[in-house]
Amino acid sequence: MTSYRITLLPGDGIGPEITAVARQLLEAVAGRHGFSLVFDEQPIGGAALDATGEPLPASTLEACLGSDAVLLAAIGSPRFDRLPREQRPESGLLALRSGLGLFANLRPVKIIPALIDASSLRPEVISGVDLLVVRELIGGVYFGLPKGRVEAEGRVRAFNTMAYFDDEIDRIARVAFALAAQRHGRVCSVDKANVLDVSQLWRDRVEAIHGEYPNVDLSHMYVDNAAMQLVREPRQFDVILTSNLFGDILSDEAAMLTGSIGMLPSASLGSEGPGLFEPVHGSAPDIAGQDRANPMAMVLSAAMMLRLGLHQGAAADDLEAAVDRVLAAGWRTGDLASNPATALGCRAMGDRLLESLAANET
Ligand code: IPM
Ligand code: MG
Repeated sequence: MTSYRITLLPGDGIGPEITAVARQLLEAVAGRHGFSLVFDEQPIGGAALDATGEPLPASTLEACLGSDAVLLAAIGSPRFDRLPREQRPESGLLALRSGLGLFANLRPVKIIPALIDASSLRPEVISGVDLLVVRELIGGVYFGLPKGRVEAEGRVRAFNTMAYFDDEIDRIARVAFALAAQRHGRVCSVDKANVLDVSQLWRDRVEAIHGEYPNVDLSHMYVDNAAMQLVREPRQFDVILTSNLFGDILSDEAAMLTGSIGMLPSASLGSEGPGLFEPVHGSAPDIAGQDRANPMAMVLSAAMMLRLGLHQGAAADDLEAAVDRVLAAGWRTGDLASNPATALGCRAMGDRLLESLAANET
C-alpha cells in the first residue's frame, strides 16, 4: 500500500483543535482510497517558542524537509507581540516558507452556494466568483534587505526594502500563467508600477513571460484599484498574480467574499520538495481552547494537500464533497451561523464531516 509521510504542525491558538479534526478526516479518507498516512507532529510558532525558545526549531524544519507534504494549522499569539522580531511566531512561519523554497502561494476563492448569504456583500455581486490569488511568498518586502531600526539625532527611523530579482518574478509568473491555462485563461497582474520601481520590473518581467503563454490573456491593475475591484465586481478575476505584501492584503479581502475566512485553504509550492498546506486564517487566540473554531479551512487545506502534494485527486474530491454536503444540510460553525444558538463547535463539526464522508459512496 502506498504510504505518505505527513508533517503536522498544529501551532498556536485554535491550531491544535482544527488539526485534530483534519487528522481524523485524513485517516478516514486515506482508508477509503487505499493509501496510508504516517503523521509526525512537530512544534512551530508560539508552541515551539515555549518548548525550545525558537519559533522554528531545526528539528521541525528537518522533519518537514524529510516528508511528502506539510500540513500547518496556524501560528501566532499576542503573548509574543512585544518580543524581538526573531523571537516571534511569525518569524518561524516565514523561515519555514523560505527554508522549503515555497515561492508560490495559491489561495483559491470560490463561492460556496450554501454560504452565499454569509458574505457581507450582496449575493448578486458574489455569486459565481471563482478566482485564484497567486502570491509570491519568499521575496519582496517580507524578506528584502536592508531592514532595521536606527536612532539618530533624536529621531527613530525604521525601514524595509521591497525588492525583487527578475528570476523571482519570472518563476511566479510562470506558475500563474500555467494555472490560468487550466482555468479560464486570464491573468491579472497586480502591482504599483505608477509609483514603485520594483513594480515596474514586476510588470516588465510579467509581460516578457507572457510571451511563453500565448493562449492566456494578461491584464495589469494597480493594487489600490484591485482592492476596489475585488468588492465592486469580483467576477472579473480569474487568476490574480501579485507580490508578497500585496497578495497578503488582497487574499484577506478576497476571503471575505465567501463570508468567512474560516473557509479558505491555501497551498504553498516550490520547484521541488514537499509543499505546505495551510488555512488562510490565523490562530484566533480569542476563541482558542473553547471548541468554537471552524475546522473547514483546515479540512479543505488537507484536501489541497491530497490533490497537489500527494496527487490523490479522488481522495481530495471525496473530502471536499463531504464539506459541501455538511454545509448543504445546514450545519454551521459560529463564524457562519445566522443564529449563534444553533452553531456547532469544532469537534461536533468534525463529527458531521466524518459521518458525511462515511455516507458517501466511492
Ligand atoms: C498569511 C499571514 C502571514 C503572512 C503572517 C502570519 C506572517 O498573514 O499567511 O497571510 O503575512 O504571510
Ligand atoms: Mg495574511
